[in-house]
Amino acid sequence: MRSFEYYTPTKVIFGKDTHLKIGEILKDYNCHKILIHYGGKSAVKSGLIDDIKKCLTDAGFDFVTLGGVVPNPRLSKVREGISLCRKENIDFILAVGGGSVIDSAKAIGYGVANPWTDVWNFFLKTEVPTACIPIGAIPTIAASGSEMSGSCVITNENGWLKRGSTRSDLCRPKFTLMNPRLTYTLPEYQTESGCVDILMHTMERYFVNIETMEITDSISESLMQTVIYNARILLNEPGNYNARAEIMWAGSLSHNGLTGCGTGGGDWACHQLEHELGGMFDVTHGAGLSAIWGSWARYVYDANPERFAQFATNIFDIPYFADYESTALAGIEAMEDFFRSIHMPTNLRELGLDLTDEQIHELAFKCSFEDTRTIGIFKQLNMKDMEKIYMMAR
Ligand code: NZQ
Ligand code: ZN
Repeated sequence: MRSFEYYTPTKVIFGKDTHLKIGEILKDYNCHKILIHYGGKSAVKSGLIDDIKKCLTDAGFDFVTLGGVVPNPRLSKVREGISLCRKENIDFILAVGGGSVIDSAKAIGYGVANPWTDVWNFFLKTEVPTACIPIGAIPTIAASGSEMSGSCVITNENGWLKRGSTRSDLCRPKFTLMNPRLTYTLPEYQTESGCVDILMHTMERYFVNIETMEITDSISESLMQTVIYNARILLNEPGNYNARAEIMWAGSLSHNGLTGCGTGGGDWACHQLEHELGGMFDVTHGAGLSAIWGSWARYVYDANPERFAQFATNIFDIPYFADYESTALAGIEAMEDFFRSIHMPTNLRELGLDLTDEQIHELAFKCSFEDTRTIGIFKQLNMKDMEKIYMMAR
């Protein structure tokens, strides 16, 4: 096992109607003027934004609102938020929505607190932020884990580059109020894409080619089984509170660092490959991951078939065949069968993309930062490898 540091500073308040505690909670954070940040339609339509405004008014807080965050959140909205926060002297940002809204809030927080440079530099990783405006989260979808994570992912419309910030505790939300009922209104596609993303946050940390820890493996395997079980329930019962709650908590635990303890940080190649799909074609993050995972797995499994065989046996009860290799391949097949069973794509065509050779080359070129970096640690992948995986996924 690798030595590790584990720090999870976000206060979690979980359960029915917890979002209505927002006025009371904010009193602990010595803030004066709050930005309520939200997405397109859902949180307004459901009455959630009005409920939040009422809670803040009743608690005596001054606030302004900024909606309109889209999936694969845009840099232009971040810049709009930074200007608004400066004009209004905002000292706390409350993100009400999905990972896109929470990420946009984090990026705004970075931009406001680091006026010495342009916020995009934190995503190009040419500069490192030294502060962030405090953030609170009220998630309305279980997926990204951004409510407890130390990163954010933003798309720059100039060049359609989707890039993640360097991981930092600075942008981790101070608290998250998690009410599983707020996720009832999600369309099936978003619910199940979210489940894939949650699985992938654990799998990215699980598929590493180093000795790991038994306890971390057990936590990860249990998380994966729980998500698979409840994702199937939600297909037919979107209003099942317990299933929503299991998925929501799994989402946070999958991406708050717990499943990476002793595993050296994780592989993250699938996420990198997906981010280019999100940047260039605006696909839903979890669906993009499910379209790419099987091709990635078949391309890399021979670096450590035993690890994939463990996955097959412990997650899908596949008995050990004569050799690790056939067990590993049966596990990959089982995962893809699961993705199909929850109506998720297992290739790019099913994701709705009919890509030319040139487009695949561009994806690999961008993902490799113009052929200057490799991705992944299970098996290091260069630009040619990336191109081959995108081709396999076509
Ligand atoms: O804008 P509205 O109308 O709210 O619609 C959203 C959006 O269209 C809708 N939605 C959200 N809650 C809803 C709802 N619709 C009905 N009822 C509700 N309760 O769902 C759609 C997707 O929302 P989005 O916020 O984009 O989803 P998600 O939470 O999956 O976030 C995806 C983003 O997070 C990034 C992804 O790359 C992607 O940009 N990630 C962030 C991470 C992090 N910060 O740690 C890690 C992840 O790996 C991921 O990369
Ligand atoms: Zn993800």
